[in-house]
Amino acid sequence: MTEPTSPRSPLEQDALQAAAGAGWVVQLHAEATSTNAVAAAEPARDLVVVAENQTAGRGRLDRSWVTPPGTALTFSAVVEPVVEPRFWPLIPLAAGYAVARAVAAGARLKWPNDVLLPDDGVEAGQGKLCGILVERVEWKRPLAVVGIGINVDQRREELPVPTATSLALAGRTTDRAELFGQVLRELRSVLGMLAQRPSTFVAQYRGLSATLERDVRVDLPDGTALQGRAWDVDEVGRLVLAIPTDPPDPPAGPPRPASVWDHHRRVAVSAGDVVHVRPAG
Ligand code: BTN
Repeated sequence: MTEPTSPRSPLEQDALQAAAGAGWVVQLHAEATSTNAVAAAEPARDLVVVAENQTAGRGRLDRSWVTPPGTALTFSAVVEPVVEPRFWPLIPLAAGYAVARAVAAGARLKWPNDVLLPDDGVEAGQGKLCGILVERVEWKRPLAVVGIGINVDQRREELPVPTATSLALAGRTTDRAELFGQVLRELRSVLGMLAQRPSTFVAQYRGLSATLERDVRVDLPDGTALQGRAWDVDEVGRLVLAIPTDPPDPPAGPPRPASVWDHHRRVAVSAGDVVHVRPAG
């Protein structure tokens, strides 16, 4: 596939507002430190801060997020989720789901919310298209700042890591304003589903997961790692791993059919970095 050469047209406030629709208040910045930081400084429900360039873009687990000006879609939407506190951890997953739905065309989710797209130029055959950072702020009521960074028009050499990809590398010419509107519509829709029935959302999320049923390593925030089979995503969004244990002494009583999964303990993880080790065999 040839590398993209399309001219890069700048984002425009009017086009973004029109694409978002009347339910959102769009604020476009030519440059911002981080759209999450700008949105969190003066949060207002339904505000969406967009930046053509971020000078201090923030990623999950205290990482940075870097995109060349004009190539990506970086924005933060402030929403007021209607969910019980125990379901708040589902919001980042819901945001990833919204982006995967908006992008469509083979987009899948690496737990919790990296959006992956098939890419033969990436060793794993799938590249990270989008990263999401959700932060909670208190403004009369709790609000969520949903920060989304989608790689739209980057060439291979413009991506920060070899595991990333862009829509352009998938051969897609994308109008960033249109994609912006589509993501916001999907975000509203999935937050509605979450408010009505979190379990329905989790079932839908599982259907787009690229992580479930694979052998994975999870690098935990404390520096340790767990390795096992990605068994499930539970009702509050945790990744449940099946981790091998030593076989126990044979149980007393009549023999029962053995399952290889008997000798595995289940561990639920609420934060971490997943590495897909290999597909389930
Ligand atoms: C990740 O580490 O995968 C999450 C990256 C999130 C990046 C987006 S870009 C828009 C918003 N503003 C930020 O500073 N970060 C998020």
